[in-house]
Amino acid sequence: MVGADLPAVLAIEEATYHEPWTEGIFRDCLRMGYTGRVLEVAAGPGEGAGLAGYGLISAAAGECHILNLCTAPEQRGRGLGRLLLRALLAEGRLAGAEQAFLEVRPSNSAAVALYRAEGFETVGVREGYYPAVGGREDAWVLRRALI
Ligand SMILES: CC(C)(COP(=O)(O)OP(=O)(O)OC[C@H]1O[C@@H](n2cnc3c(N)ncnc32)[C@H](O)[C@@H]1OP(=O)(O)O)[C@@H](O)C(=O)NCCC(=O)NCCS
Repeated sequence: MVGADLPAVLAIEEATYHEPWTEGIFRDCLRMGYTGRVLEVAAGPGEGAGLAGYGLISAAAGECHILNLCTAPEQRGRGLGRLLLRALLAEGRLAGAEQAFLEVRPSNSAAVALYRAEGFETVGVREGYYPAVGGREDAWVLRRALI
């Protein structure tokens, strides 16, 4: 992910989340040296080429954290989220991480199913971590080993 990707990244982010990350948050992540990956699909019958998903990961002190993972709404259910997640975890391994962590809303059944299928287990709960319609929602903290 580079600055030139951000308009397409933000279009997906804003189509997905009630409280999307801003351009400034993405730029800060890149400035901090976090690794961002975008996934582009080639043009096919009935669809143009374009950015289909993205993710960000930070790594330090033997751990990595998935900060964001998202596929375009019209591209979901085609295996791209799994592909991106695996690419991010490969980046974490390259940076020397032995464990990966992430936070997810318990109500986000698609993401929870993806993470469980990829070997993540719940290791904690952050109460009221996320804003939610009519209040706050907990986050599950998920972890998996990378070695
Ligand atoms: C979560 C997300 C990244 C998954 O991306 P995707 O491209 O649809 O995922 P894939 O097609 O690679 O599916 C991988 C696995 O995820 C799970 N999954 C995906 N969509 C699902 C759904 N609607 N219901 C249940 N499980 C689902 C399945 O386990 C699936 O494996 P399978 O196809 O072998 O059954 C995508 O739904 C998304 O961007 N959601 C909005 C943003 C978000 O919630 N990000 C995660 C924040 S922690």
